[in-house]
Amino acid sequence: MKDFDKKVVAITGAAHGIGRAITLGFADAGADLAIFDIDGEALEQTAEDARALGAKVHTMQGDFIDLDTIVAAFSGAVEALGPVDVLVNNLGQTAREATTPFSEAKHDTLDFVLDISLRAAVHCTREVVASMKDRKAGRIISISSDSAFNGDLGCVDYAAAKSGVLGFMRGLAREIGPYGMTANAVCPGPTNTRAMQRIPRDSFERARDAVPMKQICEPEDIANAVLFLASDKARYITGQALLVNGGRVFH
Ligand SMILES: NC(=O)c1ccc[n+]([C@@H]2O[C@H](COP(=O)([O-])OP(=O)(O)OC[C@H]3O[C@@H](n4cnc5c(N)ncnc54)[C@H](O)[C@@H]3O)[C@@H](O)[C@H]2O)c1
Repeated sequence: MKDFDKKVVAITGAAHGIGRAITLGFADAGADLAIFDIDGEALEQTAEDARALGAKVHTMQGDFIDLDTIVAAFSGAVEALGPVDVLVNNLGQTAREATTPFSEAKHDTLDFVLDISLRAAVHCTREVVASMKDRKAGRIISISSDSAFNGDLGCVDYAAAKSGVLGFMRGLAREIGPYGMTANAVCPGPTNTRAMQRIPRDSFERARDAVPMKQICEPEDIANAVLFLASDKARYITGQALLVNGGRVFH
């Protein structure tokens, strides 16, 4: 018997990076998976890799900033796999453009960062939480960032959104605690995914050297923290922010 046998886990932004590592971690631990992403081709590849580990996998490709897409995705997932036991709100990112001072940021960019890094998590959670309350069980885990604590230069909008995720998890933890449910955030430091791989070598080295452990986080480090918070071993942990960042910021 594996830790997540017969559990249904839904993960946003599952095709690449941290979301893919979380998906494969849960697949290896016996879960059935509903995975969502805008990149349909890479999503199918992740689904195939999860199936190779024994998971039953339902996929939906779409833009998860869009509310109709979110609502359709969760009703499709419940139809395919049954009610969701664990939701991982992984979707999020900084501005698509190079970082700019906040005073020069475009309104569209600010909306995009808030939508993808906070609003999507709120609406995805709304789709699963009533059924979890009815069943008196459920885990919500949202990927925030240690930028919520550090307030990294050039990412003011991102720090606002990721701090919003922390407040969201805390408020939710109070509402759902009486139902045996938990809500927590995992806050990665700079992690070895596409975003980090794209930055210039000297910026990468500066980011790495700012970490006391002198290593960039691997996506699997974040997946391990998420699996722990979703497990029975974390049944009494709620409303918390778990920083997985090699000590870059302490909290
Ligand atoms: N990589 C880091 O250094 C780092 C640090 C702290 C926090 N985080 C957070 O971790 C999470 C995952 O980041 P990552 O580095 O793995 O990112 P990534 O870019 O590697 O993966 C993001 C995934 O989301 C998908 N996606 C993008 N826009 C989408 C949309 N509109 N609808 C549906 N799917 C969409 C992408 O296709 C991709 O599969 C994010 O919330 C990010 O803010 C990352």
